[in-house]
Amino acid sequence: MFIKGNFLYTPSRKELTIRENQYAHIENGVVTGFMTELPDTISSEKVIDYSQDIIIPAFVDLHIHAPQYINRGFGFDEELLPWLEHYTFPAEGKFADPVFARRVYSAFLKRLKAEGTLCFSAFATIHKESTWQLMELAEAMGFKAYIGKVNMDRNAPDYLLEDTDRSLADTEELAVRCREELHKVRFIATPRFVPSTTEQLMTGLGRLCETYDLPVQSHLSENRNEVAWVKELHPNLPSYTAVYDAFGLLRPEKTIMAHAIYLSGKEKSLLRDKGIYLAHCAQSNANLTSGIMPLRRNLEKGLTCTIASDVAAGHTPAMNKQIALTIEVSKLYSLQNDTEKALTIGEGLYLATKRPGRFYGRTGSFEKGYAFDALVIHMNDIEGLERTPFEKLQQFIYDGDDRNIIARYVDGVSC
Ligand code: GUN
Ligand code: FE
Repeated sequence: MFIKGNFLYTPSRKELTIRENQYAHIENGVVTGFMTELPDTISSEKVIDYSQDIIIPAFVDLHIHAPQYINRGFGFDEELLPWLEHYTFPAEGKFADPVFARRVYSAFLKRLKAEGTLCFSAFATIHKESTWQLMELAEAMGFKAYIGKVNMDRNAPDYLLEDTDRSLADTEELAVRCREELHKVRFIATPRFVPSTTEQLMTGLGRLCETYDLPVQSHLSENRNEVAWVKELHPNLPSYTAVYDAFGLLRPEKTIMAHAIYLSGKEKSLLRDKGIYLAHCAQSNANLTSGIMPLRRNLEKGLTCTIASDVAAGHTPAMNKQIALTIEVSKLYSLQNDTEKALTIGEGLYLATKRPGRFYGRTGSFEKGYAFDALVIHMNDIEGLERTPFEKLQQFIYDGDDRNIIARYVDGVSC
């Protein structure tokens, strides 16, 4: 298959490749290369023509809470801990009902697809059956996804408090079922955060991760009161990061930690050396008055950072808007910090496509050997007004929405 169009992608953080008016050759769902002219031997039936449009890698969101979709935009006059108690936990409690869960998850996934997020890593809730509904729906709709049943056995309201052994047994059951029955959806161990999980539960999860070679997702150092609470709960461990490490939950190249705002130099070195993915959620951090991650400093130190939505603390799953907001926040932050040069558009695209894509595999770029996971974006709203592909990309990131995305591909198949 050949696709004609204007391709933009980021082989590295500092490199935005623009291929204007070229043909991508796609075989078995994978990009094999680009051509400026079509060989005579190829009939035009094999070409899909998007000459007027730009084509970018589909977005990859490594931190999103599927059940919280029903709460987006709620409760932002509170900070993290009261926000969880007053808004988030009551919402997640509703997912004890798998019929309700299926309805919400279906709407959630439709929205993600509409907005161009075709690969993601999501928290579900503690509920096994509802989590399975999300996994099954995501598979049926063609997403590439990691999905985790949340684990919580302390500091939760009764209706979300799990028995430790039950929590581990449900986790194991889902991990096995997922491996046996699903292909594009994978299971990810999901301890909510340190204050929600006892040492016994973290130890058990660490063991399950070893046994089944599972990836891990959780939250780290998001809010000052949360960090102080973790210090109180684990006075003998040197840091928040060290707690996860002590229980085998910092799995090299296989772990996503959301936020990671308040970190010491030692914690950063540990996170860098283990190749931990830090999901930077600028919109969420603004909404819950959590803080500002020193993104530039972290990138320069070699930490793996990606842009993520953290719905519902982030109020929209649209990754183009998350990129724009991340850049805007980084500009304001740069005014007060000499070392913090603002993020560029190319870097923003990289942190929402290729960098997080590596967590899943070869997605997020159009280099040879990458899956053709792509969005076709139509931005010509005013007839006769010519715009370059790069101008169209910028306009889409700042002011585009699902109406501009006219086609979506996963593994070379329209979805
Ligand atoms: N920390 C623990 N749980 C949550 C959550 O649901 N959202 C956010 N933003 N932070 C958390
Ligand atoms: Fe979160």
